[in-house]
Amino acid sequence: MAAADDMSFDLVFRAARSQNRWLACEVPDDVLRRLYDLMRWGPTSMNCSPARVLFLRTAGAKQRLVPALAPANVDKVVGAPVVAVIAYDTAFYERLPHLFPHRPEAGAMFERDAALREETAFRNGTLQGAYLMVAARMLGLDCGPMSGFDQAAVNREFFDGGTVKVNFLCGLGYGDPAGLFSRHPRLEFGQACTLL
Ligand SMILES: Cc1cc2nc3c(=O)[nH]c(=O)nc-3n(C[C@H](O)[C@H](O)[C@H](O)COP(=O)(O)O)c2cc1C
Repeated sequence: MAAADDMSFDLVFRAARSQNRWLACEVPDDVLRRLYDLMRWGPTSMNCSPARVLFLRTAGAKQRLVPALAPANVDKVVGAPVVAVIAYDTAFYERLPHLFPHRPEAGAMFERDAALREETAFRNGTLQGAYLMVAARMLGLDCGPMSGFDQAAVNREFFDGGTVKVNFLCGLGYGDPAGLFSRHPRLEFGQACTLL
């Protein structure tokens, strides 16, 4: 079995940090396309793929987020070369005939059960948000995830009360190490995991 090397473990996990400040380096659109082309292969239940991503690249687009942000997140958004609005579509089931063709009728159970489609969209959309961060780091980008914002306000501003809803935001670019806090500990194996 092939496995990634030690450098990759550092790049994606051990040395990767959540960024607070950004260097003034652009992220070309081509890199964002490569990012999506990687993250989309991460698994979701029934291959439902509910994540929808807005990549805010211009100052004007990022400014539309500002009124919804917790004050501590304003500079992190405005200073980021790109901010990904990671959202999920509760109408994901409409695309199941294409995404899960061996059970083309699978969408019906989501169509009639609002709680099931919300739970499925949120769970899998969150996973896809994590795949986005892993893919970004593999491409050499840094990430700055944020959930400190008014969800309803972001939904109104960008999604107009439709079936797509925001999950979290993620700054993307090249982080300024001067903005990092010291690394916080993580739980040990025995604190988080049980072998049965
Ligand atoms: C979903 C999510 C939401 C977060 N929200 C915020 C936020 O609103 N503001 C902020 O400054 N950091 C936020 N963070 C950053 C976390 O505090 C950070 O990832 C954690 O402390 C680990 O830091 P490290 O990756 O540098 O070790 C968020 C992280 C995640 C994954």
